[in-house]
Amino acid sequence: MIVAHSLADFAVARTQLDAAGCRRVVFVATMGALHDGHRELIRQARSLGDAVVVSIFVNPLQFGPGEDYARYPRPLEDDLEVCEAEGVDLVLVPTVAELYPAGRQVTVHGGALGELLEGRSRPGHFDGVLTVVAKLFHIVRPQVSLFGQKDAQQLTMVQRMVLDLNMDIEVVGAPIVRESDGLALSSRNVFLTASERAMAASLSTALQKAAVQETVAAARVAANEVLDRVQFEPAFDLDYAVMVNPATFAEVPDDHTGPVLMLVAATVGNTRLIDNALLDFPGSLGAAEPVEPAA
Ligand code: PAJ
Repeated sequence: MIVAHSLADFAVARTQLDAAGCRRVVFVATMGALHDGHRELIRQARSLGDAVVVSIFVNPLQFGPGEDYARYPRPLEDDLEVCEAEGVDLVLVPTVAELYPAGRQVTVHGGALGELLEGRSRPGHFDGVLTVVAKLFHIVRPQVSLFGQKDAQQLTMVQRMVLDLNMDIEVVGAPIVRESDGLALSSRNVFLTASERAMAASLSTALQKAAVQETVAAARVAANEVLDRVQFEPAFDLDYAVMVNPATFAEVPDDHTGPVLMLVAATVGNTRLIDNALLDFPGSLGAAEPVEPAA
């Protein structure tokens, strides 16, 4: 495994992958503090191509003032061990100074979708994400890139960027990896105290309860019942719990049928957590079989 700390070193190693005949380079972008969710992305990446490149970079551009950029965990040695154990070929660990030199001006703007939900609560967040992902795509030159469904809005926005800016990269979504009680794995979970950890699990419980309902209306009631139980806890601050059209992220009405993406976000203690699930409400009888007209 080669670890490149400068873009020049990375470029040399990346050219060697081409020279070695790698046709499908698969890229996993991360901010490090790697957990089993990242490991799963890396494993899937290995199954999708000839070589796997991972980046580890805590991107200052996607953190707002007062967010957790400074305290975000950075266990680089452990992360490199994870990459080595998972058979990663090349790791890029760039510096802030090299990715964002003085005088830089141009950024990628996410448009209307970037201003909803996570974007509404974290102004500028998606511009920061898309800008760094675009830069990393140009540096890494992957054929395929994997993003977790855990950050559903991020995944959709990266897919949108690739379409809108004609980037010749296949962006693939990977399923959410969870703890045994349902809590979605996140590098931020280490910040949770034991009591916050218990409250945090109510996010995934709300999604599970919603998923087994027959209608959007019933799913909203079921999710709210779970969230109402924690809403008076001073440490729990629900930001949103919404059901949206998975393509447009527009909220769906109570009588909507078909696939629905349910997204939740909360701050627990000082830690912002997000989760989501793809639900399906086929309607009372499902799609009727077409009736053959009588001959
Ligand atoms: P980070 O939070 O480190 O996540 C890196 C990738 O791992 C993302 O695609 C994310 O969706 C995925 N991931 C995180 N937790 C997961 C889980 N429990 N199950 C499955 N996949 C999971 O997302 C970012 O970094 C940054 O925004 C980045 C794209 C690197 C740009 O800076």
